[in-house]
Amino acid sequence: MECNTEDISTKFKNGEFTFTVIGLGRIGLPTASIIANKGAKVYGYDININAIEKLKAGISVIDEPGLDPIVKNVVSKNLLIPTNDPKEAISNSDIIIVCLPTPVTLDKIPDYSAIIECFNNISKYIKKGSLIIIESTISPGTVENLIIPLIEKNSNLKVIRDFGIASCPERANPGEIVTKFNEIPRIIGGIDSKSTKIVANIYKNIVDSNLILVSNPKTANAVKLTENIFRDVNIALINELAILFEKLEIDIFEIINAAKTKWNFVPHYPGAGVGGPCLPSNPYYLIQEAIKVDYVPHIIRFAREINDRMPHHLIELVMKSLNIIGKSVKSSKISVLGLSYKPNIADYQLSPAFPFVHELRKLGPIVQIYDPYFKGKSINDLYIENDLESTLTNADCLVFITDHDLFKKLDFNYILKFTNKPLIIVDGRNTFDIKSIPKNIIYRSIGRLLINNS
Ligand SMILES: NC(=O)c1ccc[n+]([C@@H]2O[C@H](COP(=O)([O-])OP(=O)(O)OC[C@H]3O[C@@H](n4cnc5c(N)ncnc54)[C@H](O)[C@@H]3O)[C@@H](O)[C@H]2O)c1
Repeated sequence: MECNTEDISTKFKNGEFTFTVIGLGRIGLPTASIIANKGAKVYGYDININAIEKLKAGISVIDEPGLDPIVKNVVSKNLLIPTNDPKEAISNSDIIIVCLPTPVTLDKIPDYSAIIECFNNISKYIKKGSLIIIESTISPGTVENLIIPLIEKNSNLKVIRDFGIASCPERANPGEIVTKFNEIPRIIGGIDSKSTKIVANIYKNIVDSNLILVSNPKTANAVKLTENIFRDVNIALINELAILFEKLEIDIFEIINAAKTKWNFVPHYPGAGVGGPCLPSNPYYLIQEAIKVDYVPHIIRFAREINDRMPHHLIELVMKSLNIIGKSVKSSKISVLGLSYKPNIADYQLSPAFPFVHELRKLGPIVQIYDPYFKGKSINDLYIENDLESTLTNADCLVFITDHDLFKKLDFNYILKFTNKPLIIVDGRNTFDIKSIPKNIIYRSIGRLLINNS
């Protein structure tokens, strides 16, 4: 493939490039749909047969604002072709974008089984001259040491000579993946300068955002991990300070609000725990790479431990608060509000709600869970109640895990109509203005002073 900018733009506009996006999940489906919406022919390849059947009918399988009409449009125009057949997709494509899942195992080791299985299966169909773009999050060196050898072994093609490859790690924010698709700068690191340039020229036709070119795939992946580790470590620091200041009876929010007036203070906020597909797992990719070179990244490891312990801290706040009204956890009804790992989206991946509820249940209370995004559903071993009122009814304690807008708008007088009084509120997300806490409520938020209005 040639790397002349105008050439690539003209070919893209003339529909001369055919794409395959592999993995039509939260990242892959918006990516495939938006590229198809630009007029390119895109195969969407996934092993999930049910998802492909739905997509063939023009129905999105991902709950992401703005996505449904695009999927409907591009499937009806035959621009997006959902398929379970890798041969049909790959052998007809010039550009292959990989959006496969890369979770960590229970032992916190990066799990590249989807990538290995997929490339073992598809590499034989890759045409000479193809370009492969890895958007999945992977540790530095995975393109060089795992993916390229897999392709070369299964295809008889040689990297650089026969195919190009680059990492362009996805940095999207669920809930805004479509609406802000054009705003997020892309980090591009190719195996050689030609791969980098061609990928950059392809993305120029897909997004309006800045393109940041880095030396190689491993640098691009290190950028992605650094961003998420930076955030995880900063959240851990503020969580640690919040717990300490609770004990010293100093309000962490007063501190943050004052400290952020300094030019180089970056405010982060304490919370019930860190969830989602990226932050709780990405640090382990780098921790594993560090172990391989005999280095122990202490701060990264401790940050993970601190953030993983936050659900336990929430349980301590529940116990202490119930103590004030002379109730044990065992004899209480505790209602958990929020399953999503962040507000206003239907995504519960690695949500701190799971470890919180599991630990709480061991203490024997009645536990009910409500989340407007999962009403009436059983998720893993948790049942999400159908309605808020029955979740509130006779509750001794409410624990807010997610700050959905719907929860922020709740009126305390409405809540108190159903719950026992006094009511304990343990707020894992600083959902409420502490000045608004009325009579009959004992309120605790992470890092804040106890408000006892009983
Ligand atoms: N979800 C996010 O917020 C987010 C943000 C940034 C980066 N990422 C990264 O993007 C990548 C994709 O994440 P996601 O959230 O879209 O995952 P996902 O689980 O939503 O989707 C993955 C898709 O891949 C398919 N799949 C699995 N194995 C396959 C195989 N062997 N062949 C073909 N298809 C296969 C699955 O059926 C699924 O549809 C991951 O590396 C993730 O870390 C995700």
